[in-house]
Formats: sequence, structure tokens, C-alpha cells
Amino acid sequence: MSAYTPLLHLHSTLRYAVLLLLVIAIVKALVGWLGRKPFTKADDKIGLILLAVTHTMLLLGIALYFISPTVEVALSNMGEAMKDPNLRFWAVEHLVGMLIAVICITLGRILSKRATDPIFKHRKAAVWFSVALAIIIYMIPWAERGFFAGGN
Ligand code: HEM
Ligand code: HEM
Repeated sequence: MSAYTPLLHLHSTLRYAVLLLLVIAIVKALVGWLGRKPFTKADDKIGLILLAVTHTMLLLGIALYFISPTVEVALSNMGEAMKDPNLRFWAVEHLVGMLIAVICITLGRILSKRATDPIFKHRKAAVWFSVALAIIIYMIPWAERGFFAGGN
């Protein structure tokens, strides 16, 4: 049995964890930044969990990229795939967009940790996580599969 289907389902379902954690982390960071609050253990913990889940998505995504039949078809004829919106999305756009989003989340975490002033800690997290959230919402294949799909 191929690992493709279970990994795809896991990767697909974990999107909601990433989205929820991002929203919580952003709201906490905004409240902390604009309300000039201290950077608490809870702030640190949500950032840590967000990073772990995001990196798990990265790992699953990379694994899927190597075993996905859709990606395989696309990579077998990249020239044609670039003209097909669906194949191009899976061969290039989802990967590049999500990689950038993962880097934004990782950078937000690292820069927030590195900052010493609590206001800056909150601000780094708020800004980088928001950029990541926008990219992720844009790069999730909402219409094709998953939440709004009637099958497929
Ligand atoms: C392709 C696989 C992965 C790559 C390329 C990757 C890369 C990174 C990088 C660049 C950092 C930042 C290090 C720093 O703080 O300077 C990091 C930290 C971290 N990653 Fe990953 N990671 C991967 C997979 C995972 C997985 C599978 C998990 C756990 C489920 C994970 C959890 C974490 C955690 C918890 C941290 C440190 C958080 C902190 O203390 O700030 N990563 N990773
Ligand atoms: C937080 C980041 C990410 C989110 C929220 C996300 C979300 C999704 C969703 C919702 C699907 C559709 C699942 C389905 O068809 O049921 C998917 C598929 C996929 N993703 Fe991601 N993804 C992320 C990151 C990545 C990364 C970094 C990579 C590659 C390095 C990647 C590679 C793939 C591949 C190869 C597929 C399967 C294509 C197919 O065979 O249909 N994803 N992703």
C-alpha cells in the first residue's frame, strides 16, 4: 500500500491546525504589541507549537512532492505542465508559495526569540506570521479539494 493517501490526508487536515495556530499567535502578538504587554510563557509556547506543526507540514509536503501522482505527471513533462494551471499549481506554485510561508513563520519565531524588548518580540511575530497567513490562505487549494469540494 502506498503512503500517498494517508500522508495526503494528514497534510490536508493539518492545514486547519496551522490556520488556527496562526490566528491565535497573531491575535496574541497584536494584543501584546499594541497593548504593550509582557512576552509571556504562553506567547512562547504558542510560537513553539506553531513552528512544530508548520515544520511537520513542510516535511509532509516534501514527502508528498516525491510520491504524488499529480506531481509525477507534471514533472514528466514540465513544458506542458507549465501551460496547465492544475499541474503548474502542484509542480511549482503550491511548493514555492508554501516554502516562503514556512520561511516567514520560522523567521518570525527566530527574530521574535532574538529580540529582547517585549514590544519587539510581539511585533516580529505579528508581522511575519501575518505575511505567512496571507500566503497560506492564498496557496491552499480551497476550491479543488477539501473543505468546499463535493468529492474529488
Ligand atoms: C524538512 C524538515 C525541517 C526543516 C528544514 C526544519 C528547519 C528548521 C529551522 C531552520 C529551524 C530554526 C532553527 C533556529 O531556531 O535557529 C527549526 C526549528 C525548529 N523545528 Fe524544524 N525543520 C524541519 C522539520 C521539523 C519537524 C518535523 C518538527 C517537529 C514536529 C520541527 C520542529 C522544530 C522546532 C520545535 C524548532 C525549534 C523551535 C524553537 O525553539 O524556536 N521541525 N527547524
Ligand atoms: C502550511 C503549509 C501548507 C499547507 C496549509 C498546505 C496545504 C495543502 C492542502 C490543503 C493540500 C490538498 C490536500 C488534498 O488534496 O486533500 C496540499 C497538497 C499538497 N501539498 Fe501542501 N500545504 C502546505 C505546505 C506544503 C509544502 C511546503 C509542500 C512541498 C514542499 C507541499 C506539497 C504538497 C503536495 C505535493 C500536495 C499533494 C498534491 C497532490 O498529489 O494532489 N505543501 N497541501
